[in-house]
Order: sequence, then C-alpha cells, then structure tokens
Amino acid sequence: MSNKSLSADAVSCFEDSQVNAPVGRRGHWSSRLMFILAATGSAVGLGNIWKFPYITGENGGGAFVLLYLGCIALIGIPLLMAEILIGRRGKHSPPDSMKALAQEAGVSSRWKLLGWAGVITGFVLLSFYLVVAGWAVSYIFTAGSGAFNDASSDDIGGMFGALVGDPVASTVWGTVVLAITATIIIKGIRQGLERAVSIMMPGLFVILLILVGYSVSTGYFGRGVEFMFNPDFSKLTGTSVLVALGHAFFSLSLAGGGMMTYGSYLSKDVSLGKTVMTVGLLDTVVALIAGLAIFPIVFSNGLEPGAGPGLIFVTLPLAFGQMPFGQIVGVLFFVMLSFAALTSAISLLEPAVSWLTEKRGMTRFKAGVLTSVGIWVLSLGSVFSFNIWQNYTLFGKTFFDTLDYLTSGWIMPLSGLAMAVFTGWIMTRSATYEEVGDGWGYRIWRFLIRYIVPVAILAIFFHAIGVLD
Ligand code: PHE
Repeated sequence: MSNKSLSADAVSCFEDSQVNAPVGRRGHWSSRLMFILAATGSAVGLGNIWKFPYITGENGGGAFVLLYLGCIALIGIPLLMAEILIGRRGKHSPPDSMKALAQEAGVSSRWKLLGWAGVITGFVLLSFYLVVAGWAVSYIFTAGSGAFNDASSDDIGGMFGALVGDPVASTVWGTVVLAITATIIIKGIRQGLERAVSIMMPGLFVILLILVGYSVSTGYFGRGVEFMFNPDFSKLTGTSVLVALGHAFFSLSLAGGGMMTYGSYLSKDVSLGKTVMTVGLLDTVVALIAGLAIFPIVFSNGLEPGAGPGLIFVTLPLAFGQMPFGQIVGVLFFVMLSFAALTSAISLLEPAVSWLTEKRGMTRFKAGVLTSVGIWVLSLGSVFSFNIWQNYTLFGKTFFDTLDYLTSGWIMPLSGLAMAVFTGWIMTRSATYEEVGDGWGYRIWRFLIRYIVPVAILAIFFHAIGVLD
C-alpha cells in the first residue's frame, strides 16, 4: 500500500471514529461500487420483476414502456439524486439528516418529519413486501419439486390460491424472509449489507442473462421485443401515465428511507451524478430485461401477457410446466426474484435500525430484533388479508391494500414532493451545487427538481386519492 493511500485510510478511520463518537456505530461503504450494488439492490426488487412486466402487459406494452422511461428520466432520477444528496450531506439517519440540513438552511427543524416519513414508510412497506417476497421464496421449492410439470392452469391457479389462502404457510415464508433480512442487517454494513449485495446482485444478473438466453431459444423473442418496444399509443389511457409515474417512484425506492440512509454512508469524494445515473440505469435495464425474459416464454406457450399480478405466480409457472428444462428455469427464476426482493427488504429495514442505533444507542442486534418483531406483528395483518381477514375491509380495502394505499398513495408521493421542494427551493444553491457538482448536469437537475418533479408528483397524488381518474 502506498503512503498516500495509507494516510487516506488513516484519515477515513479517524473520520469514522469522529462520526462514531456521538452517534454510535455509523458505517461507510467500502467503495463506490458497494454503494452502487446496495442502491441498485434496493431499487431492483419485486417492482422490476413482478410488477413491471404485469403492468406493461396490462397497459398494452410498448407505449407504456416509453412512458415509463420518460418518468424515470425526468422525475425518478432527479428525485433519486435529491434523496441520496440529503442523506450524504446530512450524514445521519433520515430524521437527523433532515434536521441537520434544515438547520443549515435556516428553516424549522420540523423538516425532520420528512425523515421520519421515510423511516415509517420503510417499516410499513416491509411488513407487506415480505409477504409477497415469502411467496417468491416458497416458489423456489414448489418449482424445484416438479409440481408445475404438465400441470393444468386450474392446478397452478389452485397451488397459488392454496399458498396465499393458508395463513400459516404465508406467515412461515414471510418469517423466513424477515429472518434473513434481519440477520443481514444485524451484521452491519460491511459484514452484512455489502456481503449480501455482492453475492446476490451478481447472482441476479447472471440468472437474468441465463433466462434471457433461454427466452431467445424459444423462438418467440422477436414477439417479446415487439410487444415491449413497438408502441401503440391507442392502448394508453390517462391512467397509464399515472401508473407509469407511480411505478417509476416505487421502482427507484424513492421516499422509502432506504436511499437516504444508504446515501448517508457514502463518502464525499464520490461523484453523485454518475453514481445516481448508474443506479437509475441499472434499475431500468433490469426491468426491461426481465420483461424480455418473461414475455417470450409467455407467448411461446400461447398465454396472455395481461394476466395481472398472477403473471409471475400463475402464468409463468404454467409455462415452466410445459417447456423443456422448465423445472430448472423455474427454480432459477424464483431464486432471482428472491434475491431481488431480499436486497430491497434490507434497504427497508436499515432506516429504522440506523435511527435506533444512532439515537437510542442500541446495538444493531437489539435494534434489528426490535424492529423485526414490530414488522412481523404488522405483517400478520397483510398475511391475513388474503385469507381469514379477507372480508374485513376499510373503505373496501383489505389490510394489505390499505397499507399499500397509505404508503404508495399518500406518504411516498407527499414525501417525494417535500424532498423536491426541500432540495430545489429550500437548500441553498451552493449547498446542492457542492453535492451534485459541475456544469450542465447540475443545471438540468435543478430545473427538473424545482419545476417538473413537483408538478408530476401532484398528479400521481391526485390520481391516487381518486381526484384524477
Ligand atoms: N424498489 C423496490 C422494488 O422495486 C421497492 C422499494 C420501495 C424498496 C421503496 C425500498 C424503498 O421492488
């Protein structure tokens, strides 16, 4: 090791201990690549592999994909920049990062509520995210057992119905997901998060490529490409625009607390612009490739692309049951889905844990166990929404739907709006300039975050509350 890097290390150790002194066990990513893997891990999740293909299917394909790409570029990426910027400049858990930046800007420290919104959203979102993630993990074993082989669509629909309809099975699989997530979190940034993402993310990419390779071999790849990239604007409705916008939000993990927290572990010398673009691009590429892996398989088996949420759990298994090597392809597919879900789940748990360790002086173990117990209890409500509580509804929504509605429909868009206002209008130009860096990129970002993003988010919000339908 050269003298220069030795002394750089010494400085960063010193900085670590300085930061650690008042707040306990704050960590740092060991490299820019680790941050990219972790943030991409957060972004790439059920949203990319489960939701994106089925909403593309429901919204007619190509034109919707174009809309989605526009939303990612104009709204998603600027907001991702804003969220990571707040974390990196604030260097604390979301509430305290917000408080520090509010003080810096000379405005009320009530802005820390925005940080709280992130922590709470992460907590609540994880409680229902893990239910779907649990189904994904359980399907690794269902696929592996050969249960899909030559099964009829009734059989496969029945299998999925039996899983979601069984409160014990769904709870057990959700608990497995939560236990893995908590174990990773408890081990800390370097031993836990970095290790997990450096195994799971490359694993996910490799499996995705194998699956695309398989899709090409079905002979229906061209149909898949055409479906996804040949726009037919007559298939779009006013709702499609808003679905695309809402999904861009969810897919980039915006306003879930995770990106802000991950940003707070990122060192100053990393170029934010390039890093954020990389994460946004990878998230988008994975969603597109997932579509290219899935649709040819669907078409080659004469199935419907617009099957809705069951596309992954019913339509695709039906195809796995019919095709050569379907058992192996099925296992690989659900391993990939589980990796994607787990690396997102850790980013949903980390904000609460970072707050408890920082403010309450808890060990990561204690904070991890405590938050997991809370999330587990809340998750029971979501599990039961598909079985014993399916008839208990509030304004026609089950417990699962209510949590989804409150977070995706209210808290997340409002937090996104507040983040855009805060970084675009309240933080000084010099403060954001210092974070984002030079030239054109900065000017474009600032224009988008001040004008385009707030207006677009208001549109998603009014749509979600039913004013804009
Ligand atoms: N982006 C994740 C997905 O696509 C979900 C997520 C949302 C994760 C918000 C963290 C915060 O599945």
